[in-house]
Amino acid sequence: MSLTPTPADKFSFGLWTLGWEAQDPFGGPTRPRLDTVEAIHGLADAGAWGITFHDDDVFPFGASDAERDKAISDLKGACTDTGLVVEMVTTNLFSHPVFKDGGFTSNDRGVRRFALRKVLRNIDLAAELGATTFVMWGGREGAEYDSAKDINAALERYREAVNLLGDYVTDKGYDIKFAIEPKPNEPRGDILLPTVGHALAFINSLERPELVGLNPETGHEQMAGLNFTAGIAQALYHDKLFHIDLNGQRGIKYDQDLVFGHGDLHNAFSLVDLLEHGSPNGGPAYDGPRHFDYKPSRTEDSKGVWESVRANMQMYLLLKERAAAFRADPEVQEALQEAKVLELGQTTLGEGESYDDLLADRGSFEDFNADAYFGGNGFGFVRLQQLASEHLLGARG
Ligand code: GCO
Ligand code: MN
Ligand code: MN
Repeated sequence: MSLTPTPADKFSFGLWTLGWEAQDPFGGPTRPRLDTVEAIHGLADAGAWGITFHDDDVFPFGASDAERDKAISDLKGACTDTGLVVEMVTTNLFSHPVFKDGGFTSNDRGVRRFALRKVLRNIDLAAELGATTFVMWGGREGAEYDSAKDINAALERYREAVNLLGDYVTDKGYDIKFAIEPKPNEPRGDILLPTVGHALAFINSLERPELVGLNPETGHEQMAGLNFTAGIAQALYHDKLFHIDLNGQRGIKYDQDLVFGHGDLHNAFSLVDLLEHGSPNGGPAYDGPRHFDYKPSRTEDSKGVWESVRANMQMYLLLKERAAAFRADPEVQEALQEAKVLELGQTTLGEGESYDDLLADRGSFEDFNADAYFGGNGFGFVRLQQLASEHLLGARG
């Protein structure tokens, strides 16, 4: 298996990731602005396949039409020259002061209408550039104080906005689907749709749920103490994994946006295994872009920025190699059997069996030896995890 990234790997990067000038709440930038055209050429040289961006990454908020057109044409030119695709577009509804209380769910109705106009304009741009996914990360949709936000009304306004966008792409005939990106907090104290689960429930309330899925981010679920791989498995289960933001996070703290795999490495391993192979009993794999939403650490100069770009793809490919070896190892297959992981794929009732049949089956209850599970009938999950760890460390196969 090759560890050199190629476009077939479908690696993509947000322009805001490598382009981050490294300002944080405690200090200003430590790096100069990275030019869009230079970023696109550098990504192509590194073996990436695609780019993504917010409107404001490419042309500043409030840019004149001429400035905007020039920036878009430079971006298009760089994509044509390098063969990179624009696979996803997203809208910045968080940087400008007008969005200090959010966009779609700001208490201020004028701001909500302005936010919708900004997004509609950006959807037109996404369609023009051939992007098929439109991400919505509502970082400012939230509050710090319970009394400040009527959550019921805010969800209604969120729904109103997403329904309108669904009507818009349908009427325009655009081949675009939406992907909601959950995050528990930061920059708001609490953000609406904080986890994969909250967002899935919200999607089910929409008028066109088929147009809307998820863009879960590794670190965001982990900031909430949740298992990212398990969240992704559920998103796949509901056919809602429309896109993904890969990065690294070490525990429940601020959004670290580390290189993919530089956080919880075991979870990154199981994630790549799932994305590449689907679940052990035959659940779906993922064939969309492998998109990195990370930040080159503030300590890095421009050489370090490009190191970190390559590191993301390298980590993915290394884990992909290890996951393939894990799946192919006969001892792992045997351990999966032993751990009854494959038995979970069997239906609990037999074909055609009714609850009356179950009630009549003495073996399932009256004669079932529940006591055998005390001091016996262990599952062997630790052995399985040890085998996974040995593969992860390159100690096997
Ligand atoms: C964050 C988010 C963003 C979004 C981006 C796309 O925590 O800052 O992950 O980077 O992914 O705005 O909409
Ligand atoms: Mn993030
Ligand atoms: Mn993200």
